[in-house]
Amino acid sequence: MIGKICGTGSYAPSNYWDNNDLAKMVDTSDEWIRERTGVVRRHISVDDTTVSMAVKASRAALENAGVKPEELDLIIVSTITSNKIIPCAACEVQKELGAVNATCFDMSAACSGFLFGYNAAQAYISSGMYQTVLLVGSEMLSQIVNWQDRSSCILFGDGAGAAVFRPAEGVLPPCVTYSDGAKGQVLSCESRHQKGWEEKVKEGSTVVYMDGREVFKFAVKQEPAAIRKLMELTGEKLEDIDWFILHQANLRIIESVAKRLKVDMAKFPTNIHEYGNTSSASIAILLDEMNRKGMLKEGQKIVLSGFGAGLSWGASLLTW
Ligand code: ACO
Repeated sequence: MIGKICGTGSYAPSNYWDNNDLAKMVDTSDEWIRERTGVVRRHISVDDTTVSMAVKASRAALENAGVKPEELDLIIVSTITSNKIIPCAACEVQKELGAVNATCFDMSAACSGFLFGYNAAQAYISSGMYQTVLLVGSEMLSQIVNWQDRSSCILFGDGAGAAVFRPAEGVLPPCVTYSDGAKGQVLSCESRHQKGWEEKVKEGSTVVYMDGREVFKFAVKQEPAAIRKLMELTGEKLEDIDWFILHQANLRIIESVAKRLKVDMAKFPTNIHEYGNTSSASIAILLDEMNRKGMLKEGQKIVLSGFGAGLSWGASLLTW
């Protein structure tokens, strides 16, 4: 058995900040941000939370799938910005949806979160442990971004995306995943819930720190390598892949991956101009937009690929 995505949903707060809004906060410009990142605007929550966005994306996905909340037997929420330490966001989503038969837990893998969650959902379904699975990526990054740091704040935004899986005939293809904790310091944010937290808040380490150049170099090297490895393990050819749905971190990273793989950029859909980097929600939001526009056809082969804090990265093959 494999998991088949039978419905998708997404949600972003209606409030947004465009690049000119950011230029009023830090020394930057619309031109610099567009050229270096591809971001034009990002949605920023006013009264939404990670859980409320997850619930709205989940309701849309369940409706799209024609699945009732009580049919779910597993909910995974991928997030690095959950409302509470306990209970987990997935349990709060369960409560709001009335998904009384679901087992719920969160996954923390930053921008690789939806990809790792996808693999987890597939593993659970193919083992027979769970059948009807809701996977959500939801992030309120505006709460942890350092809005005084022009080198990082220009990238991020808030949003959520969700997918519902049902079992279908098939064999689970291999996936490619990696983590490198030794390089974790290039993208970090300390918890406020630890000894000495007041000091950490004062020194500014409880907001996102990012060594942009290092993350950039890592992404443009490792993402194409992971996709090539996926092709080798699955026996697929790059030219037979219909879509490459990558984590939306920076348009230049996506363009560089396409160039290194020698694949037409037309196969790399993007929506970073609209949302910025929404971490574990980005792949799910893009998947939902493509689904709703009718761009995804039965039997199409899709590569999902993400990278992010940890460091962590990988690629998986999805047949629509
Ligand atoms: N506006 C204007 N100038 C700026 C800005 C800004 N917002 N930010 C930096 N600059 C300046 C720098 O100070 C530097 O000036 P200098 O040459 O006088 O020193 C110059 O612009 C170039 O800076 P770089 O850091 O080299 O700029 P770069 O082209 O690398 O772009 C960026 C920076 C956009 C952050 C890029 O490195 C990047 O996208 N990296 C990847 C980040 C990423 O994907 N992070 C998410 C990972 S996923 C996750 O898990 C959250």
